[in-house]
Amino acid sequence: MYLLLLSLNFDVILIASSHVRREGDTTVDHPACLVKIDDCQYLVDVADGYCSSRIPVNLNGDLVEDVNFSYKVANDGHQYTLKIKENDEWKDRYIFNLKPKTIEYFKNEFTGSTTEKIFNEIIFLVNTTTVEKKVIFDKRFICFNGKEKRTTDIDENCFQEIIRTHFGVPENLIPIHFQKLLP
Ligand SMILES: *[C@@H]1O[C@H](CO)[C@@H](O)[C@H](O)[C@H]1NC(C)=O
Ligand SMILES: *[C@@H]1O[C@H](CO)[C@@H](O)[C@H](O)[C@H]1NC(C)=O
Repeated sequence: MYLLLLSLNFDVILIASSHVRREGDTTVDHPACLVKIDDCQYLVDVADGYCSSRIPVNLNGDLVEDVNFSYKVANDGHQYTLKIKENDEWKDRYIFNLKPKTIEYFKNEFTGSTTEKIFNEIIFLVNTTTVEKKVIFDKRFICFNGKEKRTTDIDENCFQEIIRTHFGVPENLIPIHFQKLLP
């Protein structure tokens, strides 16, 4: 997301956020993007799994309403907190500050972690629109449409075709380590 926004000439920095768990413990830093447009700063983070807002969240506290949750950012003068409302209850999702981080910084956090395997050895692609969500995870193609979920095992011969047609990834942009996994 960060690299995409950069390549589209957005004024963007990468920041580190810590998820707030029930006990208030800290977790491995989660990367997110801050984008500056005119004089406003927005949190842009479509990689927070099930909790991701598809709409940028203004750091000024404006409320954002997406399909499943509402979002807002609070600032106590020291740090920012992303808050998510689910079932009429606001919960702290993660805390962050405005210090720019590098990709290198996250590489160190990531190397050897349990998520490393998922991203380095398994194909994981997501295409979310307002009406449906399509996911390739490992060798499965999963389609969500409203409350419906359809899972199909991908025939090896169809892999390239599915990646191209449902995820818009042209052949010359499929990363090298993907090609290794592809038949
Ligand atoms: C909203 O929730 C449904 C049901 O849990 C889920 O399938 C869908 O992916 C969610 N939408 C987004 C944009 O996250
Ligand atoms: C994502 O899926 C939608 C249809 O659900 C499709 O119109 C769109 O082209 C897909 N996006 C890409 C990047 O392929």
